[in-house]
Amino acid sequence: MYYGADYYPEHWPEERWPTDAEMMAEAGLNLVRLAEFAWTRLEPEPERFDFAWLDRAIEHLAARGIRVVLGTPTAAPPAWLVRQHPEVLRVRADGRRVHFGHRRNVCLVSPVYRSCAERIVRAMATHYRDHPSVIGWQIDNEFGCHDSARCYCEACQGAFREWLAARYGSLEALNRAWGTDFWSHTYRAWEEIPLPFADALPANPGLALDYRRFASDANVAFQRLQVDILRELCPSHFVTHNFMANGFQELNYYDLARDLDFVSWDNYPDLRRSDPAQLAFNHTCIRGWKGANFWVMEEESGAPGTTVISPNPRPGDIRLWSYQAIAHGADAIVYFRWRTCTFGAEQYWHGILDHDGRPRRRYYEVQRMGRELQRIGAQIVGSEVNAQVALIFDWDTAFAFQIQANNPAFDYFEHLKRYFVAFHRRNVPVDIIPWSADLRRYRLVLAPALYVLSPDAAARLRAYVEKGGTVLFDVRTGAKDVYNRVAEGPLPGLVADLCGVTVDEYDSLPPDVTVPLVFDTPIVSTQKLLAHTWCEVLAPQGAKVLVRYGGQYYAGQPAVTLNTYGKGRAVYVGTIANPPAYERLVDELLSSTGVQPLLDTPPGVEVTARWQGQKRLLFVLNHTNAPQSMSLPGEFHDLLSGQPLSGTAVLPPKEVWVLV
Ligand code: GLA
Ligand code: ZN
Repeated sequence: MYYGADYYPEHWPEERWPTDAEMMAEAGLNLVRLAEFAWTRLEPEPERFDFAWLDRAIEHLAARGIRVVLGTPTAAPPAWLVRQHPEVLRVRADGRRVHFGHRRNVCLVSPVYRSCAERIVRAMATHYRDHPSVIGWQIDNEFGCHDSARCYCEACQGAFREWLAARYGSLEALNRAWGTDFWSHTYRAWEEIPLPFADALPANPGLALDYRRFASDANVAFQRLQVDILRELCPSHFVTHNFMANGFQELNYYDLARDLDFVSWDNYPDLRRSDPAQLAFNHTCIRGWKGANFWVMEEESGAPGTTVISPNPRPGDIRLWSYQAIAHGADAIVYFRWRTCTFGAEQYWHGILDHDGRPRRRYYEVQRMGRELQRIGAQIVGSEVNAQVALIFDWDTAFAFQIQANNPAFDYFEHLKRYFVAFHRRNVPVDIIPWSADLRRYRLVLAPALYVLSPDAAARLRAYVEKGGTVLFDVRTGAKDVYNRVAEGPLPGLVADLCGVTVDEYDSLPPDVTVPLVFDTPIVSTQKLLAHTWCEVLAPQGAKVLVRYGGQYYAGQPAVTLNTYGKGRAVYVGTIANPPAYERLVDELLSSTGVQPLLDTPPGVEVTARWQGQKRLLFVLNHTNAPQSMSLPGEFHDLLSGQPLSGTAVLPPKEVWVLV
């Protein structure tokens, strides 16, 4: 298993490099990522390349058996490039061009920038194609970060018009799709079509959605430009990119993942004081973008910080977060970063080593795990998470909700997370999938808030239910067509008959209002079950009522229904509820679909499984600061301690079992 660090030899005197390599090897590291921000060092002036320093750094690493992932440096252009071609700088939604002096400040559509990027990538690939230490590439760095997903420059304006012409074929089709009769927006020439600049009023929703799609495609195309070069020159190397999570929803990540060998991502738990379920959700999303295992290319190994400094990872956190990533399908852990830099905008973003480069607590924790992985890593790599429950994430829907949230408190990711958290609490694995995935391998498919509903998506879900599957839909399903126009028929639009229900009215609630929910089956829960944010008053057309509202003018009216259709069932949840209500709903879904939790554990103890054929590895992680006791169903062997475990067993705080 690869276990490594992001390393910036260019930040340190060359005399230090052998010490770094030696300390890395001592910590069990066998991989570094290099050079993703070193463009000016690699191409000090146009078309003059210098790889000698990087070659020497790699030699020290190679001498210790450490392999290399090279980053292509296109997230931060050299000053000479911007001086020569100021038009490569990105334009923001308010029309202002950004300045040099940060990163992610360029337009990925700009022909000049694309050709400069092509040149440096080609030069690097040519130089390193046969290097025995180099195993793969990370393209660019965090596409879309720092609000860079969409650019509003002239090059983008032109490219958008071409993209629209290809999509719609004619202006008549475009005018019809967007409904340009509204406010006299009808276009008679492609040159008349504007960009959706930030203004006092929002742009036409059809234009706004297409611009998000276009901009996402532009990022994917910029990545593909580099992928193609690397595939051509370095056929034996892998190609990846470091994605983001925590609600980042500016780029279609299924599309971005498609051209890569695997997805990587950057995990900074302390940034948002993330709870274990949030972290689990992040890993699950990342695994979902390609439907496969992934790498963590930047794992927090010290306090994050730029102007102010976040809390330190507590003793045990770094190792626990790393095992949690592995538990959810990570096949490699790479820490950000080897050593905290003394200069630059991130001089307070701490790595494994502090500024002084001496080994301390965090180094020894990384080392402990490094030695463990040297023993057990090979048994884990490549094994798969096999979930029976799927959660559909749809990027058109995400984009459309960004354009119109419907309720100020609504966020698509946060909403999907409500379901995820309830399954996570029960230790039931969930996959994030697109609606176009093969649904047959799942016993239960959740499709919450599938707002932009295409006829294709509706047909697939219908076929799945007909053949015996269970699908859950909820608020705003089918409210929009693919042009971001509101559906004409009664909601939930194309799946109304599948759900056996129509939405009579919807009520968008202010932040402080809750509505009691009354389940039709007797409630064992002592907690109040409450709706908030959004209430749809449902009119069953054959569906059975599961839950009713207990307040507002719709007291007594249906809130959740269940319909049998073909050999399967469709649940419709017409509201957004508090966590106990989701837990209760999830318990009903688990028992009716026969999906079993992996293990029953106390709160704060997470369980996942990875499978190698029939062989199961059970990861049990104690995220709490107290020992946790649980009863194990059978005889187990913990790979980490080498000890047998059975009956009632106690997992110490922040500790991990890997059970077979
Ligand atoms: C991101 C980037 C890194 C670095 C870290 C810490 O994840 O990819 O280059 O900036 O954050 O800020
Ligand atoms: Zn642009």
